[in-house]
Amino acid sequence: MAKVICVTNQKGGVGKTTTAVNLAFYLAKEKYRTLLIDFDPQGNATSGMGVDKAALEKAYEPDSKVPGCSMTEVMLGTIGLLPVIQETKYKNLHIAPTTPQLANTEVELAKDKQRFTRLREAVKMIEGNYDYIIIDSPPSLSLLTVNGMITAEYLLLPVQTEFYAMEGVSQLLETMKLVKERLNPKLKLLGVLATMYDKRTSLSIQVLKEVEKYFKDKVFKTTIPRNVRVAEAPSHGVPVGAYDKFSKGAKAYRDLTREVISRTQK
Ligand SMILES: Nc1ncnc2c1ncn2[C@@H]1O[C@H](COP(=O)(O)OP(=O)(O)OP(=O)(O)O)[C@@H](O)[C@H]1O
Ligand SMILES: [Mg+2]
Repeated sequence: MAKVICVTNQKGGVGKTTTAVNLAFYLAKEKYRTLLIDFDPQGNATSGMGVDKAALEKAYEPDSKVPGCSMTEVMLGTIGLLPVIQETKYKNLHIAPTTPQLANTEVELAKDKQRFTRLREAVKMIEGNYDYIIIDSPPSLSLLTVNGMITAEYLLLPVQTEFYAMEGVSQLLETMKLVKERLNPKLKLLGVLATMYDKRTSLSIQVLKEVEKYFKDKVFKTTIPRNVRVAEAPSHGVPVGAYDKFSKGAKAYRDLTREVISRTQK
């Protein structure tokens, strides 16, 4: 059975997608069969993995003759995950890409009896093919995010080591608690990841201390440094480990992956 990890934080721009993409990349490099699910209509994980988003979006043009084939249709319940999944350039790494239309499915989904469990049901059909499934979430506590939480066994919470890092975190933990009580008893916090950490600034150090005071040993020992190579890699459609494997950012994501493996293989 695959281990399903949902990378989530409703705060925008904290490093969710960067973490999902690079964790998936290094898990695959460690020879785990890995699926990255892009569950954010912004589609940053899709483009960050080099998938041609424009080609996927052609299906939604008014005179299109090809049917859509992305997470949008999976959430509408018209197709399963299998036809949506694409191979990537990397061995052991597959991706289920998304398009902006995924945002529109929330309205349809809200009317649907299976609104909470649609992703979980879709994942159940294919999880035997994978060791790890990584879900990248949108920056909201939307129905999509809740679907991610209901599907996963583990939540990975990235927090940016900047002012307001903990903003919204209590709301997120409350949502997690509700999901755990009502819909997914196996859900647990895998860990909290300090991102864009700059050890030269007292703000970064202070924020990390605060996060550690709150989450204690749930905080990963690895911190992700602010690193220009990490920021550049998505514009080339590749994870940082493929863009510059000797960069500090790549090394940090490799270390994080080892921690994730050890925490999930217990
Ligand atoms: N360690 C890092 N060093 C430098 N830049 C980074 C780092 N991590 C992420 N970034 C950059 O910060 C921005 C936000 O990162 P990312 O897209 O991963 O956040 P997110 O939480 O997924 O955002 P959203 O909430 O919009 O989905 C991106 O431009 C990304 O390239
Ligand atoms: Mg993102």
